[in-house]
Amino acid sequence: MKIISSAEEMRAFSKECRRENKTVALVPTMGALHAGHLSLIDIARKSADIVVVSVFVNPTQFGPNEDFANYPRKPEEDFEACRSRGVDAVFAPPASEIYRPDASTYISEEQISQNLCGKSRPKHFRGVTTVVGILFNIVRPDKAVFGLKDAQQVAVIRRMVRDLFFDVEIVEAPIIREDSGLALSSRNAYLDPGEREGARRIYESLLKGKALADDGCTNVDRIKALVINSVSSAKIRVIYVEVVDRLTSLPVQVAERGKSRISIAVWYGRVRLIDNIEI
Ligand code: PAF
Repeated sequence: MKIISSAEEMRAFSKECRRENKTVALVPTMGALHAGHLSLIDIARKSADIVVVSVFVNPTQFGPNEDFANYPRKPEEDFEACRSRGVDAVFAPPASEIYRPDASTYISEEQISQNLCGKSRPKHFRGVTTVVGILFNIVRPDKAVFGLKDAQQVAVIRRMVRDLFFDVEIVEAPIIREDSGLALSSRNAYLDPGEREGARRIYESLLKGKALADDGCTNVDRIKALVINSVSSAKIRVIYVEVVDRLTSLPVQVAERGKSRISIAVWYGRVRLIDNIEI
């Protein structure tokens, strides 16, 4: 497995793959790889000849008071995990390889990214689309795999790819959960074991919302109220609960089974957690 830190070398590697008529799948990550990421890698492995995993904690998607400095960084463990999963190349650049010191160009999706997480993290999705666009231009993958825990992110990236004619197929991967139901996330590392147990309320509340929809309720306000009441506790504060279109993550007026998703973000103490469920 190659470990590549320069954009030029990454480009050359990818170009060589294309010259040999090999397809390339990219799994973009910010490292601290967990079983959720490994499932993305497995999907990439099955869908292309060459698998590239990028490991880059992207500064532009963090707000000024967010956890960029503390975000878990475990490069050696990440490389080992990639090696054991049959990854061909890890692209782990320093920030200077991705952003020129006087970079002044961004990619900004302006509809989907205004809702849900975009409301409380105003420049987050601009940072995501910009870095994903840069990674696509460096790696030139045929496919790129993203996890549905970040369903809004997937919707924003799909829109960017469509609107800007990026020549890449977006592959989405199901959420991987702990036995308790807690969706796997690198930020779970901030929770102590007791908090991890308490965080099961998040998925449990989504299941209650889904059960109400399964019983025939299409009323968005009722579903939202049930989820909010079930999840809220002394420790868990709701940032948003929304019923959204399954594909675009845009809020809907009527919850429709097979077409909608319940999305949630909460503060668990000082840890921001998100999750969602299709209904
Ligand atoms: O989902 C993530 O880990 C990040 O948002 C991504 C897509 C790697 C961009 O930095």
